[in-house]
Amino acid sequence: MKKRSLSGIKPTGTIHLGNYFGAIKQFVDLQDEYESFVFIADFHAITTVQNKEELSKNTLNITMDYLACGLDPKKVCLFKQSDLPEVTELTWYFNCLTTVPYLERATAYKDAKAKSKEASVGLFDYPILMAADILIQDADIVPVGADQKQHVEYARDTAIKFNNAFGETFKLPEPRILKEVATVPGIDGKKMSKSYSNIIPLFGTDEQIRKAVMSIITDSKAPADPKNPDECNIFAIHKLFLKGEELESLRKRYEEGGLGYKEAKDMLYEKLIAFITPMREKREYYENNIEEVKKILKEGAIKAKENIKAKMELIRNNVGVNIN
Ligand code: AMP
Ligand code: TRP
Repeated sequence: MKKRSLSGIKPTGTIHLGNYFGAIKQFVDLQDEYESFVFIADFHAITTVQNKEELSKNTLNITMDYLACGLDPKKVCLFKQSDLPEVTELTWYFNCLTTVPYLERATAYKDAKAKSKEASVGLFDYPILMAADILIQDADIVPVGADQKQHVEYARDTAIKFNNAFGETFKLPEPRILKEVATVPGIDGKKMSKSYSNIIPLFGTDEQIRKAVMSIITDSKAPADPKNPDECNIFAIHKLFLKGEELESLRKRYEEGGLGYKEAKDMLYEKLIAFITPMREKREYYENNIEEVKKILKEGAIKAKENIKAKMELIRNNVGVNIN
């Protein structure tokens, strides 16, 4: 029997190289070896996106992004979170076992507080909804970037609490985080993130991608100066695309001097466009066949629902809301 993999992304805007290398590429690479579930976390997105046109547009966009990146709906169950309202029911059972101080330790909530924003109850409870997503499907592994590690730990803790309170019900999931791409840096060297406005969009236009690449922050060394590649934000992104020989020869050019930042950026731009072009073409196909995209989501919802049926019965029996 294959082990099960599950992960999701919030439809909150444009996906970027961090999402691709940290998460989506893993989903694609795992789809043969694992029984795979990939979803669009639209319930989670409502913590920030509160506009119906935007939410539904983003949801279809990210579905097309997934497909263009190589997710095969014959191999992967691709669905949207809100087609499984049972996750909110499970979130409630979990909420009743979760303490306020425990959730106060969650990074996303602490960040919101540090910015002296009043967090919504939805943001506060975000990790528990995510625990429900993972545990309801009996996931063995959760492929994500490093920023989601704590959330997977919350899911494990929650499984243990539930099992202790109501009897053995859930297995404990493991995060799957790839070391080299655990935190993909943005154009300023900090973690690439929509909220830091430092992204390189995966499906941007040539112009948007060029603009992002040309804005990568560097020091002021002249082209002739020898440079330390490991301190260069351009090199850090080159590394995502280059392996072995190619990477070593670029490293050498940095160290020897003679490679200017402008040339390094031009090379990166060319590399990016070559990399993205086949995916763009695939995405255009889906843009022109949007009914096919909707059908994939509908079929995914049916399969995901089928998959949780027995588990939901077990959960309700164990909690005691079923009267047999
Ligand atoms: P988000 O955009 O926050 O919904 O993230 C979706 C997925 O992409 C999650 O698995 C994140 O961990 C991953 N991710 C987001 N940004 C990065 C990054 N800069 N490096 C690696 N993974 C990332
Ligand atoms: N919190 C994740 C993110 O921001 C999205 C997400 C929601 C998720 N539910 C999940 C990821 C379950 C993995 C498993 O990226």
